[in-house]
Amino acid sequence: MKISLNNDWLFSKDGKTFEKVRLPHANALIDYNYVNEKDYQFVSVYKRTLFADASWAGKTVIMRFEGVAHLSTLFINETEVASHYCGYSAFEVSIAEYLNVGQDNEIKLVVDSRESSNVPPFGNVIDYLTYGGIYREVSLEIKEKSYVKDAFLIGYAEKEPYNFEAEIEVENAEDEMEISCALYQNGKMIFEHRQNANEREFFAQVENALLWSLDEPNLCKAEIALLQNGREIDRKSVTFGFRTVKVTKNGVALNGEVIKLFGLNRHQSYSYVGYAMPKRQQEADARKLKYELGVNAVRTSHYMQSEHFLNECDRIGLLVFEEIPGWQHIGDEAWQAHTIENVKDMVLQHRNHPSIFLWGVRINESQDCDELYEKTNAVAHEKDKSRQTSGVRFISNSHLLEDVYAYNDFIEIKALPRTAKKKKITKTDKPFLVSEFNGHMFPTKSFDDEAHRTKQALKHASMVDSYLTDENKAGGFAWCAFDYNTHGEFGAGDKICYHGVCDVFRNNKLAGDFYASQRDGEPFLSVSSNMDKGDYAASLFQENYAFTNCDSVKLYVNGNFVNEFYPDKSTFPALKHAPILIDDYIGDTLANTEKLKRKSAVAAKKILKHISKNGHNNLPLGIQLLALGIMLREKMSFERLYKLLSKYVITWGSNGSVFRFAGVKDGKEVVSVVKESVSEVSLEIDCDCTELTDGDCYDVALCRLKAVDKHGNVLPYNFDAVNLIAKGSIEIIGASTVTLRGGTGGVYVKTVSKGKGELCLTHRNKTYSVQFDVK
Ligand code: GAL
Repeated sequence: MKISLNNDWLFSKDGKTFEKVRLPHANALIDYNYVNEKDYQFVSVYKRTLFADASWAGKTVIMRFEGVAHLSTLFINETEVASHYCGYSAFEVSIAEYLNVGQDNEIKLVVDSRESSNVPPFGNVIDYLTYGGIYREVSLEIKEKSYVKDAFLIGYAEKEPYNFEAEIEVENAEDEMEISCALYQNGKMIFEHRQNANEREFFAQVENALLWSLDEPNLCKAEIALLQNGREIDRKSVTFGFRTVKVTKNGVALNGEVIKLFGLNRHQSYSYVGYAMPKRQQEADARKLKYELGVNAVRTSHYMQSEHFLNECDRIGLLVFEEIPGWQHIGDEAWQAHTIENVKDMVLQHRNHPSIFLWGVRINESQDCDELYEKTNAVAHEKDKSRQTSGVRFISNSHLLEDVYAYNDFIEIKALPRTAKKKKITKTDKPFLVSEFNGHMFPTKSFDDEAHRTKQALKHASMVDSYLTDENKAGGFAWCAFDYNTHGEFGAGDKICYHGVCDVFRNNKLAGDFYASQRDGEPFLSVSSNMDKGDYAASLFQENYAFTNCDSVKLYVNGNFVNEFYPDKSTFPALKHAPILIDDYIGDTLANTEKLKRKSAVAAKKILKHISKNGHNNLPLGIQLLALGIMLREKMSFERLYKLLSKYVITWGSNGSVFRFAGVKDGKEVVSVVKESVSEVSLEIDCDCTELTDGDCYDVALCRLKAVDKHGNVLPYNFDAVNLIAKGSIEIIGASTVTLRGGTGGVYVKTVSKGKGELCLTHRNKTYSVQFDVK
């Protein structure tokens, strides 16, 4: 029997005054930015009453904490029971002996969220906030004395029938006990096996198993029953997958097919509540990565992440590189002992997830430390022989004890940087992947000007292209998916690292649109410029790119076709959908309207292109000669030519022009983006779910907000306030006024009870309403 213990907790910051709270709980709600890190760094107390039913007498009672930041000590009826020393791993405590059955018992957890403790990741600076509180769920399981404690199931996918290995641990197994292990897919039993409960392992072959892959992530459910004289006394369900996965030189071989890793790093933090976000939003992040950003892999930088997030990665087919907590610093012997423990816990707790393909067993970006890393590597291999290990370094020629060299590539500062060649970084023959790039090399805010935002997108495109082209790289993970709160030593001074391809509310920046454009399926088109040249120094317009999965983009100005543009395959040869440079806004107008001879029209266009990028001072000789050619050919004075060209330079992009960019797929226009001077502003509200649940746990929906023009374009310099009122069964997390930043923002609403709820949003004197149904 499993019981959730997420409701009815009492929480105190000082051990004296308590308030009622529900889990997941943040020990402090922090501000959006300019956070004071001290706000969450203290020791707090969580208490609750637990009635131990008389039927629990003589049974095993296991209390499970999914995640508490960071040190916790459990007391039951004032007796100290256990402590846990990691803010990112789950922990279980067997508590039967401390409970008074048939009575109320006091459960108390003292939680130390200070960053001064001698456990990973603490000991030096860290580029992310570490938050505090019982930030994941808590549950209780009541079992017999003998029960199935753990099960590790490995389904391989080399050839049918598929090899299957199971390692099942029964606590207090007795001689006459048996275990049965039945495998189910799509509700049908595909395999069954029985053996004595004392035998830990068995090997078998399974026919007709559906494999787990990125496109068809078939899961397999194992039902493991413990039988005593034929009677079931315990049962454990485990979800796993049949797949064979191995990082190779050129990609990840998944069931024999080599796939280049195309990934992003993810921090598990959210505005206001830090880590304390329940199931729906954890799952939403996985879906955002796969379906909106189109990546095939994620790195859980820099710690073990929520079971909900990993479960969703399993369900949707997203590869996961998971790692232990730590950031550059390696502490003393006691600290290192925790690191070894963390590796063990990570592997034991998550090894059934088919999405996890690689264990990170080094402290992110630490120096070599063979003594420690021999142990962490050995522990991971001992607890899971089916997966490889890696560890992320920023140093070259580091001593590689693991199976894969993972390297954070922050070298080139060029406009279009490329990843370093493997042989420059390591001499090893083992596989190599790029675990981070970009990030602090080019922080970008949603409200940066469009030239800056375009550059960020192009840098991602270039780095991705460089690892995709390289047959000595298994792939890469960009830094990073979402902007995140950080410490004063990092970020933009406002305690935010604007390194995401999305903002903190998971709204795409242009770099996010670059990732989205690599997906196949629904047509996608994002145009980097709003066509307002006044946004540029000296009105010199820079480059305008389309990020799209279409074959080409056609441009129409004021309804007239101008030109068709194609993916820039020469700059980005390996990208599935290379960015498209849009650099002609004149087309044949000079020939058609101005009646210039074809040769003169071509020359005039070159001159205009030059002027709009570089201005008309100091024209280079080549351009001057082109002008001279036109004057001679057309018998035109310099004055007339100047007037004619000025008309196109000056009117270009001015009020009144309507630019329509049409994405073309298989010869048809399938999607379009229209840009013109803004005449109307409205608020676009995109709530990820309006049917929520409340019961064992509260639920949270994210409403992403955008100020848009009448064509749906985000208005990048909109900083309007949106006033929020929640009614009925929902509540707003954080402030009741949010500011759009760069035209985007968001609000999280949480359930407080079952029933109807309403979120009213007022923006520019207009009120919008979103109805929620909480079941
Ligand atoms: C890396 C580090 C990340 C993040 C990133 C920013 O060095 O591993 O956690 O700080 O830099 O670019």
